[in-house]
Amino acid sequence: MKVAVIGTGYVGLVTAAILADFGNQVIGVDIDEKKIKTLQKGQTPFYEPGLSDLLIRNQKAGRLVFTTDYSQAIPSAEVIFICVGTPSNEKGEADLSYVFAAAESLAPFLTDKAVVVIKSTVPPGTHLEVKKIIDKLTKVKYYLASVPEFLREGSALEDTLHPDRVVIGTDERYAQDVLLDLHRPINGKRILTDVVSAQLIKYAANSFLASKISYANEIARLCDAYGADVMQVMEGVGEDKRIGKAFLHPGIGYGGSCFPKDVKAILAFAKKKKVELAVIAGAHKTNTTQVDYFIDKIKKHLGHLQNKKVGVLGLAFKGNTDDIRQSRALVLIRKLLKEEAEVYAYDPLAIANVRKFFPELNINYASSWQEVAKQTEVLVIATEWNEFKELDLEELKRISKVRYIFDGRNILNPTKVKLAGFHYIGLGR
Ligand code: UGA
Repeated sequence: MKVAVIGTGYVGLVTAAILADFGNQVIGVDIDEKKIKTLQKGQTPFYEPGLSDLLIRNQKAGRLVFTTDYSQAIPSAEVIFICVGTPSNEKGEADLSYVFAAAESLAPFLTDKAVVVIKSTVPPGTHLEVKKIIDKLTKVKYYLASVPEFLREGSALEDTLHPDRVVIGTDERYAQDVLLDLHRPINGKRILTDVVSAQLIKYAANSFLASKISYANEIARLCDAYGADVMQVMEGVGEDKRIGKAFLHPGIGYGGSCFPKDVKAILAFAKKKKVELAVIAGAHKTNTTQVDYFIDKIKKHLGHLQNKKVGVLGLAFKGNTDDIRQSRALVLIRKLLKEEAEVYAYDPLAIANVRKFFPELNINYASSWQEVAKQTEVLVIATEWNEFKELDLEELKRISKVRYIFDGRNILNPTKVKLAGFHYIGLGR
């Protein structure tokens, strides 16, 4: 099939690369000329395991090209995916200006029977606005659909190839058949819905997962208060199949480009219709106070933080990515700096992004966890990178004066850490 993908962020690039790999003819479109030039040179603008190889392979095979020119991409496309960003605006709503701009740019070039698929995360009803925009600019018969994305950064290819489900939301039989055919090589159950329900599935899923995390974090606070071990509690809870083990791992909260934005957006569009979402509002509140809760724990042990040398391991919003959007590690660092601590930090991939986007942060960057440890008295784990999970405690003892380890992601084994002679402080254990 001939496919156009508008937007070359995580969702757009992964979609384009995988569809091309299935043998489709794919054109990726973006208004960012610099990004398109980077992609045309065979470079990937961000880190995602396996993506670079897939992009290069399909570009070489001639199945995948990139352009800034809608008139090149749209006329031949049977399916057009809109995969542009929907960031939060100042009211917490999804800013739909990129989606509307994409609709306006593609409309004049649409050809008969094209299927326009909104893959960007958009509030229910957005397709009606998109339809109004397109209808002003073309008379051809086209179809609208919503196919939300459920991939996680760091495992984007795997998630896209082997999803639990593929949600195809459209009110038109023709579009449903085309999209079922296009997704044929992908595993996972098919959920066929109307457009609005598909749009809500995405927000409902993300806010449920965010709520699970906040729930685990609240139970962690309760465990601290009563002396229980939250990891044991969550194991006991998660084994119940009705609850499930995933996303019950306590820590300093959820970050990234999705959960914080989507939770705020669902609260905003619920409020517009006067619907109260008390559970989701609570999950949001817990997330916004979780770093403070952790800082209070650190202060309880160290007294104050003024002039204390604190080493932070991890800057990315989670492991296996260089993405720092809404990273809790950076929220933590800002608070440490406010308390006048001296911050040393290491991350396997994300340092360049922090330097670039937050040059004002007064951080002493290091090229390894050892280099951080040599200069500090306290270590704080802020991101769940694999390389921190098996921290060499003997080496740490040998090379540093570190005595306190604050595990903001509950990834170390407290018994081992204590046996090695350190103070261990996690969340709820
Ligand atoms: C999330 C969803 O998991 C995807 O299904 C969805 O497609 C995506 O958002 C999106 O809307 O595009 P992602 O933001 O890549 O994916 O990251 P997650 O792996 O979900 O992690 C989000 C945050 O939650 C991270 O900060 C992570 O550290 C935290 N987390 C996750 C926890 O604190 N505890 C957990 O048990 C799991």
